[in-house]
Amino acid sequence: MFAIPDSFRIDVGEIDIQHDFLVDMINDLIRAIELGDNPNCRTNFEAFKNRLVAHFAYEEEIMQTADYPGLDWHREHHRNALDNVNALQSQCLSTGRLTVDILEDCIQNVISDIAKADLKFAAFLKDKH
Ligand SMILES: [Fe+2]
Ligand SMILES: [Fe+2]
Repeated sequence: MFAIPDSFRIDVGEIDIQHDFLVDMINDLIRAIELGDNPNCRTNFEAFKNRLVAHFAYEEEIMQTADYPGLDWHREHHRNALDNVNALQSQCLSTGRLTVDILEDCIQNVISDIAKADLKFAAFLKDKH
C-alpha cells in the first residue's frame, strides 16, 4: 500500500485530495488482488484514466489562472504520463490480467506527477505570494 508523504502536499485547491483519491483507487485494486480477486482490466483502467484526465485538466486550469510560466511543460509532462498509463493498459489487456506490478507502475505515474511537476508549481505559487 502506498501513502503520499507529507512533503508531497501541494496545498492548492483540491489537488492533494485528488492525488490521494487516485492512489487510493490503485491501493484498493492491489488489496483486491492480494485477496485473490482478479479485477477487470478495461473497466478499472477506464475509471482510473478518467480520474487522472480530470485531475490533469483541473491542475492545468489552476495553472492557467495563475499565469504559470511552466504550464506548457507541465502539459507535456501530463501527456507523457497518460501515454505511460495507456501503455500499461495495453499490457494489461494483452494478458487479460491486472497485476500488482502494473498497478504499482500506475502509482508511480501519479507520484512522478507530484514529485517532478506539481511541486514546481507549488514553489512558484509560494514565491509569488
Ligand atoms: Fe497532480
Ligand atoms: Fe501535474
